[in-house]
Amino acid sequence: MCGIVGYTGHVQAAPVLMDGLERLEYRGYDSAGICVSDGDAAHPLKALRVKGRLSALREASENGKAVPGLSGIGHTRWATHGEPTVENAHPHLSGGKVAVVHNGIIENYAELRVKLQGRGYVFESETDTETIAHLLHYYDHGDPVDAIVRTVMHLKGSFALGILFEERPGEVYGIRRDSPLIAATSPEGSFIASDVPAILPWTRNVAYLENMEIVRLSPEGITFFNLDGEPIEKEFTTVSWDVEAAEKGGYAHFMLKEIHEQPKAMEDTIRPHIRDGRIVMDELGMSDDEIRGIRHIQMAACGSAWHVCMTAKYIMERMARIPVDVDLASEFRYRDPVLEEGTMLMVVSQSGETADSLAALRYGKQQGMLSLAIVNVVGSSIAREADRVFYTAAGPEIAVATTKAYSTQLAACVMLALHFGRIRGVVDDDTYAAHVEALLKMPEQIREILRGEARMQWLAGKYANTRDAFFIGRGLDYASVLEGALKLKEISYIHAEAYAAGELKHGTISLIEKGSMVLAVATQKDLMEKEVSNMVEVRARGGTLLALTMEGNYDMEDQADFTIYVPRTEDVLYPNLVVVPLQLLAYYVSLSRGIDVDKPRNLAKSVTVE
Ligand code: AGP
Repeated sequence: MCGIVGYTGHVQAAPVLMDGLERLEYRGYDSAGICVSDGDAAHPLKALRVKGRLSALREASENGKAVPGLSGIGHTRWATHGEPTVENAHPHLSGGKVAVVHNGIIENYAELRVKLQGRGYVFESETDTETIAHLLHYYDHGDPVDAIVRTVMHLKGSFALGILFEERPGEVYGIRRDSPLIAATSPEGSFIASDVPAILPWTRNVAYLENMEIVRLSPEGITFFNLDGEPIEKEFTTVSWDVEAAEKGGYAHFMLKEIHEQPKAMEDTIRPHIRDGRIVMDELGMSDDEIRGIRHIQMAACGSAWHVCMTAKYIMERMARIPVDVDLASEFRYRDPVLEEGTMLMVVSQSGETADSLAALRYGKQQGMLSLAIVNVVGSSIAREADRVFYTAAGPEIAVATTKAYSTQLAACVMLALHFGRIRGVVDDDTYAAHVEALLKMPEQIREILRGEARMQWLAGKYANTRDAFFIGRGLDYASVLEGALKLKEISYIHAEAYAAGELKHGTISLIEKGSMVLAVATQKDLMEKEVSNMVEVRARGGTLLALTMEGNYDMEDQADFTIYVPRTEDVLYPNLVVVPLQLLAYYVSLSRGIDVDKPRNLAKSVTVE
């Protein structure tokens, strides 16, 4: 997520802005910038922007001396639309009259861009944010609040904005929808920010803006407005968090924060790709003929991303009827694979920098394959080197154990499979519509699961001292338990194995003894009966059985010692739901074992060595 800071008061603004942005660095960013009003309404606004770290901004601004002024806005950018470059860095300006910084995703920016170009605006960046700057300029007739209201009426998607108007030196404006924005006041002046850490050194006196509320900072203080332009009263609260807790949004760990960010990450990944009931993949730049020409898909990834590929195999073969092979990226190029004409290589990677996955991509391209990457970090190596890229919109993921990036990758694979299936004429309209509807319901269903968090915490306490854990499932549930076992292993250090439920009896069941913890995921209706028989086998040998299944499948309670339910959905979307209880189980087991959940031993967030 991007970081926003705005300030006006009676000390120089630039140092205040850069200090505030530094306290938002944990959010991840790839470029930064500030715009400071020097107080003279006749002087056009100018932005100072850099690619890379804030230290470069400090240097370019001579630690603020080169940009004098008592009011301004600042931004650290996590790229979503357009690579990390100076041109794409915020603030974005329009005619030197308006400057804006933005956190969020404007879903209809492409059509707004065309309309604004038609009104003579010339765009300098690839960003969705620049459309906001030009809209504000277009509607600025001397009343900033009115210009803001008119502008946001045209925006679809999420935004938190910090805004300067040339003719209003000393004033800073803000508004939000679905991206956080706070306002704060102190003896030195008043602030807006994406998050509390930015303003903690100055004040703990904070107001949280609600959706579509407008804030004006001025030397006289803070005023809030509604969309009718009427002043409104807002309650200020005192923040008790320390800086570290504030960076985690009040959650104990980044992992828990990111588990809870999944509904929004899913909304940000799904919504821009569904328009009028249709999945839209324009960004891939793949023609229908190109999609019809795919004869085989070869997938390669590591760790959790490999689990995404294992899931995608079932989904792509079922929905698009395209044969799929999946390899561990570290194995793929060494097995001298036979790659037929018409094979497309798909690489999945959150960081886009995993050495094995990057090497697999390069190998596939050397073999002449068309490559498609599903990546979370814009401008990363894999994103830049792949022929086609689908960007997930999970935002920066700080915890080593992936959660929201994994979930958005799964959603990407479902959308790709449906898109390919429809174009190849193998998905009927009813099936397509049902799955699009199910995708759109997914974020709220994840919120519903998260409301049952306390139950998973209680369950984790019961099994925190287990020595071995077995995760079993059939079909898509097998792909899901691969991820469940890894989550538990990597953050609790408990030995956990994932098994295709039908495979257990071919050897490993000899390990099942009284008290062995076995977690069975059972959501695939056509495989339910067989999976239940595997569960019976486990219990007959004294295993303690946890079942994870869909609501309504209450017979499961006859087979299991403990049953966890997820809302009902389409078969291919259950992996997106069952992973949430599995993440929570692993998190709370790790917590109860006193382990550093965000930084487990021996692990790195991105494995950039082979
Ligand atoms: C996930 O919890 C692990 N930390 C790890 O398996 C990770 O998924 C793997 O290293 C791949 O990373 P990538 O998605 O950035 O390529």
